[in-house]
Amino acid sequence: MLVDVTLTADTVEGRDVDGRTAIVIDVLRASSTVVTALANGCREVIPVATPEEAFAFKRERVAGYLLGGERGAVKIPGFDLGNSPSEYTGELVGGRGVVLTTTNGTKTLLRVSGAERVLVGCFLNAAAVARSVAAGPGLVLACAGTKGRFSLEDFAAAGAILAELPGDGLEISDLAMAALATYRQLLDSQGLVDTLSRTGHGKDLARLGFAEDIIYCAKVNMWDVVPEYRAGAIRKASQE
Ligand code: MLT
Repeated sequence: MLVDVTLTADTVEGRDVDGRTAIVIDVLRASSTVVTALANGCREVIPVATPEEAFAFKRERVAGYLLGGERGAVKIPGFDLGNSPSEYTGELVGGRGVVLTTTNGTKTLLRVSGAERVLVGCFLNAAAVARSVAAGPGLVLACAGTKGRFSLEDFAAAGAILAELPGDGLEISDLAMAALATYRQLLDSQGLVDTLSRTGHGKDLARLGFAEDIIYCAKVNMWDVVPEYRAGAIRKASQE
């Protein structure tokens, strides 16, 4: 299986993922939020590009949905939830649908929506998502980055997922090799919480009062959940 990594929402193209599985990685925090929501019983997450689309979905289609997401990492006025995984509790999202729009995470997902399969991954579900693609045709780890720029936390999570793939039969690109080496090196040196805290977006989140989210999003293999995007909705993959 051919394995590659792309670095930002703005640079990933449809042809990068054509005929392959894409794993969308936005550690801080969209992927971590989606994994947590589904782990806590959320029925489905509908990713949309803009707050206006989210309001229209609720108004014109299904009134019972919660609206979640952020701009500038802060809850959008009029929305029910922001983009902190800690908000997506079983009490709030259990059995319900959420319409989600985020700056980089949902954008990446919508850009790779033509892939053979579209999954959502992060540190929280690295082993589960890797298991789910072990026999696939080809794999692209689609890092979201932050506003068109490289994000170390997404790249390291790509490495964490790669570390969980069985080595046999993998043909990994130079970027995929670098992601794996980065993850291993960070684990051996300063650790993930410290690293995530020192990234550009990690510092912004801490300034905004979301330091607890960084600690949570750095937990490796906390959830055995594989979110899969199909026909406009993200739900738990059916093999679970
Ligand atoms: C995004 O999609 O840009 C992020 O998830 C931002 C955030 O931390 O809320």
